Amino acid sequence: MDNAATSFPKPPAVIGAMSRFATQVGASPGRGAYAQAQEAGQLLHQCRERINTLIHGENPEHVVFTLNTTDALNMAIRGLVQPGDHVITTWLDHNSVLRPLNALIDQIGLEQTRVPCDPRTGLVDPDDIAKTITPRTKLIAVVHGSNVTGTLQPIAEIGRIARQHDIPLLVDAAQTVGHVPIDVQADCIDLLAFPGHKGLLGPLGTGGLYIRPGVEKRMQTYREGGTGSASDSDTQPTFMPDRFEPGSHNAIGIVGLSEAVAWILDQTVQKLWRHEQSLIRAMIAGLSDTGQMPGLTYYGPQGVKDRCGVFSVRVEGFNDPQALSDLLEREYGILTRSGIHCAPLAHKTFGTHALGGMTRFSFGPFLTVQEVQYACDALGQVCHKHAVAVGA
Ligand code: ALA
Repeated sequence: MDNAATSFPKPPAVIGAMSRFATQVGASPGRGAYAQAQEAGQLLHQCRERINTLIHGENPEHVVFTLNTTDALNMAIRGLVQPGDHVITTWLDHNSVLRPLNALIDQIGLEQTRVPCDPRTGLVDPDDIAKTITPRTKLIAVVHGSNVTGTLQPIAEIGRIARQHDIPLLVDAAQTVGHVPIDVQADCIDLLAFPGHKGLLGPLGTGGLYIRPGVEKRMQTYREGGTGSASDSDTQPTFMPDRFEPGSHNAIGIVGLSEAVAWILDQTVQKLWRHEQSLIRAMIAGLSDTGQMPGLTYYGPQGVKDRCGVFSVRVEGFNDPQALSDLLEREYGILTRSGIHCAPLAHKTFGTHALGGMTRFSFGPFLTVQEVQYACDALGQVCHKHAVAVGA
């Protein structure tokens, strides 16, 4: 139950595709004209097409491969902001947004506004974002699904505000791509940063940035180098995706990712999202049974609305949330992640920063309702034992 860190397991065909690439293709895409290098290039393009279809992008060449979501967010943020610009983000954002922005405050005098979130649900009010826009605002960066509480921000509403002001909207979809239907065109998303290895079910070391056609013209490159194209030029190509993809690709990882996205397209993300919602309902039913869960608090939206399959809890008697994770692993075989989850301001929003954070359960498509109920039963037993211990 730590799919928010990376998904496990993967669809079985993923390892088969990676193994075939390693043993029968084994070439670097775009480097060489022989058949294997061409096939590697075609496999990369197929992956771009599949991801573009999944998010309803306008052009597969605008799906840029990155190392992970953090890399994609840095590419977008550092590509768009200049000295003296103003950027808006939220208190629920992850360090992958907060740290680059804080570094840029020091490096180029960037100004930022962090919009607070409701301390019960974690929801940001889009009007609060609208109110903070200034003539110098050059970027709005918002996490779609919180990696702490699963809160789903009203991305389409924020997108409409950003589009009205012609300010690029960067969405951190680390916890939502592959889980929740995303339509970059309908939701007015200019830049979508996503992992390949979480909801898209590919291997670690994969990720991407979708850049709406036209937005790339406003962006500087974040790093430069060989692309296997326009090699006679000593400056970075201006065309997509090469402009943002210097250096040899993680081709074997992208081939695995492509197979995983094909599996998601075949299942449909709508069907996977319905399954995740059934897991969410089972978790809420278990966690809300206060008779069974003495001393338990779960954070974020208390119903199915406005949330994805990421739940974090604290149990009275466990001052250190890692002690709860250790117990769940040792006695029940349940794997969770405890602590601050690289999101210090989210924990400040919910009042758990000074307490060492929370214990997080996060869902993937291969988890069953019965397994979620088992986790709730385990939590119930732990709560009862500790209620007795605390009472005694
Ligand atoms: N950001 C990832 C998590 O929440 C790694 O676990």
